[in-house]
Amino acid sequence: MYNTPMTKIVLGIESSCDETACALVTDDRQVLSSVVWSQYDEHCRFGGVVPEIAARAHLEKCDILIQEALNKAGKTFSDVDAIAVAGGPGLIGGVLVGVMTAKAIAFCRNLPFIAVNHLEGHSLTVRLSHDVQFPYLLLLTSGGHCQVLIVKGVGQYERLGGTIDDSAGEAFDKVAKMLDIGYPGGPNLEKRAALGNPKSYAFPIPMKGRPGCDFSFSGLKTAVRVAIEKKGSLTEQDKNDMCAAFQYAVVEEMKDRLKHAIAVFQERYPSAKDMVVAGGVAANQSVRKMIGTLADKNNLIFSAPPIALCTDNGVMIAWAGMERFRLGLTDSFDFKARPRWPLDTLSGGNK
Ligand code: KG4
Ligand code: ZN
Repeated sequence: MYNTPMTKIVLGIESSCDETACALVTDDRQVLSSVVWSQYDEHCRFGGVVPEIAARAHLEKCDILIQEALNKAGKTFSDVDAIAVAGGPGLIGGVLVGVMTAKAIAFCRNLPFIAVNHLEGHSLTVRLSHDVQFPYLLLLTSGGHCQVLIVKGVGQYERLGGTIDDSAGEAFDKVAKMLDIGYPGGPNLEKRAALGNPKSYAFPIPMKGRPGCDFSFSGLKTAVRVAIEKKGSLTEQDKNDMCAAFQYAVVEEMKDRLKHAIAVFQERYPSAKDMVVAGGVAANQSVRKMIGTLADKNNLIFSAPPIALCTDNGVMIAWAGMERFRLGLTDSFDFKARPRWPLDTLSGGNK
């Protein structure tokens, strides 16, 4: 691929959960390569991610994937202008593998090192795929998080609300486990839901009608468990129906909360135009459709990253790294991998 001499390239590494991923992106929004190695086979028989197994798998694959990403892009380290890595939040063993690898490359090649907050990666990816300007309203919904934020700029996030218990992705995964429909839970549950009747069970919509923008999914998950126990043995159709009714309740919960968030956002920023969903659960078509409709009704433009960039990937880290790099927001080698790292504590450099 041809690059003008001015084009900058950032290599991004993601290893904070159960995907090892690496990508190269340019400052003019080209994805030169993206490789994702999912640890599905490693964790499948446990029905969820086992942190120690994840860390070892990242260690085994990280440098192989980096080389693969460079090869696919037809580049070498000499073509790269900066190294970005997910520095947290996440499973600390995996984050450490990525951070140490990135630091080693940056040190040896004398390149800038950028520690990207994984959530910032999810939050900014839409600016690679769409013309979305700051400030925008964002529903960030993944396996570890569910929050609604105003994205005011790189490193500038105002949290309007978040989950008070489970994240939406966690609820999808736990319900999928209860129904024994396989791991990864979210995508399997969505497929099943398409074959079921959402009205067959009246699951609660936990925060509906309450003020504010907080979410809750734990009671909904418990309601599904109670329904499973009450039924005794489940047919495949029962499972499909429960998936459909559960997904319907999740979407309704999100809709109710987002209505409040839109009101706050539009009051604060009357001329802002954009509303975005990001994170693994943003791959869900019912979630995307609901937010699209809600945005339309409120004269907002709905955008979401392409499905492949919703679940964890290297592009989101490379792109957030690029956004930081072009503002001069690089990090020192003192940066410490962070298992917890709330998005609304970010500002300037990640010291
Ligand atoms: O962003 P992500 O890849 O990892 C984290 O940062 O947590 O999100 C993974 C989460 C998992 O809980 C997974 O079940 C959920 O996203 N997910 C989905 C779908 N695809 C992934 N949930 C609902 N529907 C989907 N299609
Ligand atoms: Zn993620």
